[in-house]
Amino acid sequence: MDGFCTVVTGAAGGIGSVLVRRLAAGGGKIVAADIDGARLEQLFGADGRVARSAGDVTTDEGFETLLRTIADNSCGVCGFAHFAGFDAPAPLALAKPETFSALAAVHAGFPLRFLGWMSKKANRVRGASAVLVSSAAAHGGAKGHAAYSAAKAAVEGLTRAAAAELAPYGMRVNAVAPGVVDTELSRAWTGKLDKEQLDALAKAHPLGIGTPDQVAAAAAFLLSPDASWITGQTIVCDGGFSL
Ligand SMILES: NC(=O)c1ccc[n+]([C@@H]2O[C@H](COP(=O)([O-])OP(=O)(O)OC[C@H]3O[C@@H](n4cnc5c(N)ncnc54)[C@H](O)[C@@H]3O)[C@@H](O)[C@H]2O)c1
Repeated sequence: MDGFCTVVTGAAGGIGSVLVRRLAAGGGKIVAADIDGARLEQLFGADGRVARSAGDVTTDEGFETLLRTIADNSCGVCGFAHFAGFDAPAPLALAKPETFSALAAVHAGFPLRFLGWMSKKANRVRGASAVLVSSAAAHGGAKGHAAYSAAKAAVEGLTRAAAAELAPYGMRVNAVAPGVVDTELSRAWTGKLDKEQLDALAKAHPLGIGTPDQVAAAAAFLLSPDASWITGQTIVCDGGFSL
């Protein structure tokens, strides 16, 4: 849509950066947000279609910086893809409530706040689409990922509730739930597995471990008008992991 932008968070990360490139190649204006401002500059500093917003999106300061970047580029927000996040694997006996709070803040708290901003009369854009990110960990029992699984389950509840509230304004909210995708986030824990465990993990994904492009493609579809009759859904995108 002319004069509008898509906000992509986690834009310096594995999946987010691929999505930004994909959307920019399609001619869209992007506001790319990430806590890692140096990496954002490195990736997109030379791309005039990509405005950068560096900051922690869970803080007031980071949130205000993002809104300022949107305003500075005088764009209405027609798309929102939230790929900022992290995992903090720990056995249940060592899991801490404060870890859950931090995970919930980035995976569900920030999108709750940003969707709230999008829902305000002045910011509503008919045809706008939001894509949040759940995980296979929200559906199966992922050992060592209790806090992360709980935060991702919250994302799916948020997706449905926000979709119901925004549908009367012609705005859509969906989520993708990936299996294991080869990025820094997953490498932080797959790097600690032995060969046997890695083989088992690969085998559990009949179509192979995912690539960032495969998840970005699903998100791009949900953002596009091709998905104009889809809202409140979580699309499992996991190479057959859940079968
Ligand atoms: N990689 C996987 O296997 C996998 C599987 C299922 C779901 N996911 C989800 O997909 C999303 C993207 O993951 P990824 O694999 O691309 O990870 P990644 O680590 O490559 O990228 C995440 C990005 O988010 C940024 N970030 C983290 N906290 C932030 C904050 N508070 N404010 C702003 N930016 C912040 C990081 O700097 C990083 O650039 C995450 O929500 C993740 O949980 C990933």
